[in-house]
Amino acid sequence: MSRKPIIAANWKMNLTQKESQELVEGILKNINEERACEVILFPSLLHIPAVYEIIKDKKIGLGGQNLYFEEKGAYTGEVAAFQLRDAGCTHVLIGHSERRHYFHEDYETVNLKVKRALATDLKVMLCVGESLEERENGVTEMVVVDQIVSAMENISVKNLCDISIAYEPIWAIGTGKTATPDDAAHVHQIIRKTLRRIFDEEYANSMCILYGGSVKPDNIKELIKKDDIDGALVGGASLKVDSFLELIKSVQA
Ligand code: PGA
Repeated sequence: MSRKPIIAANWKMNLTQKESQELVEGILKNINEERACEVILFPSLLHIPAVYEIIKDKKIGLGGQNLYFEEKGAYTGEVAAFQLRDAGCTHVLIGHSERRHYFHEDYETVNLKVKRALATDLKVMLCVGESLEERENGVTEMVVVDQIVSAMENISVKNLCDISIAYEPIWAIGTGKTATPDDAAHVHQIIRKTLRRIFDEEYANSMCILYGGSVKPDNIKELIKKDDIDGALVGGASLKVDSFLELIKSVQA
């Protein structure tokens, strides 16, 4: 089953508007439309309109880093799925470990957010991954399977084409430590097996499963050589034009 790889940039709570614009312009100047991977940018919420203005005619995905699961109303400080759509977003990140950890997003919240995004025609990038303690206790598989199963509750198989998964071991995010390609591939296989078990095999095979956690130009090649690793969700190395371009180009090579 051939899946078009995805290289996604999670800028988190970084960059001014001007820096965001310069970063996108720098990326656009150096990539062609016929690239071998899909590129998706997740800027700060505040900079989505400015980034949209630059990429609106280009084949680049744009996403929010979060949304609130209610449709609209009195939820001060939150952003609705329809507002992300209205601002030009095609995608949204859901369940990033920083949201689960710092903002106490539980399984039910993640599932409600996935459902709201899909109902609003936003493509979901669902993040899952174990902590260091969970890895050391040998429960990585159990944690990741639970995260997938709970997030996918009441999701219809026809929505699978609008969902990708990012496996991001928490101990590898922003730490400079990456899972070995074999370790990452093993968890990716478990995720795919879980998706096959819940859904139709063909749909599950067509879903992209990305790896995230200190992905850099010097480690991406070995990771994406693995059959079940279909690209990367990148934090730190997506904040500089040169390193992000190198990541995109390494998928083409
Ligand atoms: P990192 O972040 O590449 O800086 O480790 C990845 C992520 O959190 O999505």
